[in-house]
Formats: sequence, structure tokens, C-alpha cells
Amino acid sequence: MKTTIRTTNESETIALGERIGSMLRPGDIVALTGELGAGKTTLTKGIARGVGVEAEVASPTFTLIHEHKGRIPFYHVDLYRLESEDLVGDLGIEEYLYGKGVTVIEWSERMTSLLPNSALLVSIDVVDDAKRDIELSASAPRWTQVLQELARC
Ligand SMILES: Nc1ncnc2c1ncn2[C@@H]1O[C@H](COP(=O)(O)OP(=O)(O)OP(=O)(O)O)[C@@H](O)[C@H]1O
Ligand SMILES: [Mg+2]
Repeated sequence: MKTTIRTTNESETIALGERIGSMLRPGDIVALTGELGAGKTTLTKGIARGVGVEAEVASPTFTLIHEHKGRIPFYHVDLYRLESEDLVGDLGIEEYLYGKGVTVIEWSERMTSLLPNSALLVSIDVVDDAKRDIELSASAPRWTQVLQELARC
């Protein structure tokens, strides 16, 4: 299952995130990839909004995992500063992945070995200054309806 949605500015990416976030349930994992400045944090802000997080979601600096309160707990993981993929096991990330919240992971390619195949994969491709092709794919049946819903508009 795969669908690609093009956004042409930051607010469209936030709006897409919000639509995704509104459909998320406890235990869902959203794994983001895309080059520096692609829009991973921007999409995460929208997802957080859709999950009902009122606090500001920022780029995590030295903390790799941020927890927020929403309709369901919201965990924002950013592995950019992870020095080595070997260290991902030390973060205790499984506690979040298999917990009762929603987990969104930036630079998820840095934890391929630990990423459950139940995750929704989102890859953001920079087309030009303002255009992004956002490819959503998943193998788990959980996401079939979500992807159909997102492809609809
Ligand atoms: N269609 C678009 N969607 C998202 N962001 C866009 C879009 N067009 C332009 N931008 C700009 O691209 C930048 C995206 O930054 P953002 O921090 O979300 O990227 P990132 O992928 O999280 O980067 P990093 O790898 O540093 O964490 C912002 O400055 C935003 O304004
Ligand atoms: Mg970011």
C-alpha cells in the first residue's frame, strides 16, 4: 500500500499532518525519512495537532525523545543527533514503541533494526523550494483505510 501526496507550502504539510494525526490510535508508529529541511518536523507539528497536543512541538535539541500530552500520549523522537545506530538500543525506545501512545520518529532510517513493521512509513522528497512529495507506505493492514482516506483529497 502506498500513496503520494504533494504539498506546495508549509501549511499544506501541517494540514496533512493534522489529518494523519486525527486518525491515529494508541500504539501507532509513524516513521519519517527525508533530507535535512525536508519537512519532517513540520509534518510532526501537524500530526501532534491532530492528536490533540496543545504544547509547541519543536526540533528536539539534545533530548532525542520528547513526550507530550494529547488525546493520547504523543512521543516525538528525533534521531538526528544519535551518534551511532548501535546506540539506539540504549534509548529505551521500545518502551514508547510498544506503549499506549503515538510515536513519531524523525530520521527513522537510523533505527531500521528496531523499527516494527507495523509502522507507517513517510518519506518526504524535496521537489523544489516549496514543493514536497510525501510518500506514505505501510505493509500492516492497520493502515489500509488510513491511506485510502488520505488519498481521497
Ligand atoms: N511544502 C512544504 N512542506 C514543509 N516544509 C516546507 C514546505 N515548503 C517549504 N518548507 C520549509 O522547509 C523547512 C522544513 O523544515 P523542517 O524543520 O520541518 O525539516 P526537517 O525535515 O525536520 O529538518 P531536519 O532534518 O533538520 O530535522 C521549513 O523551513 C519550511 O518552511
Ligand atoms: Mg526536524
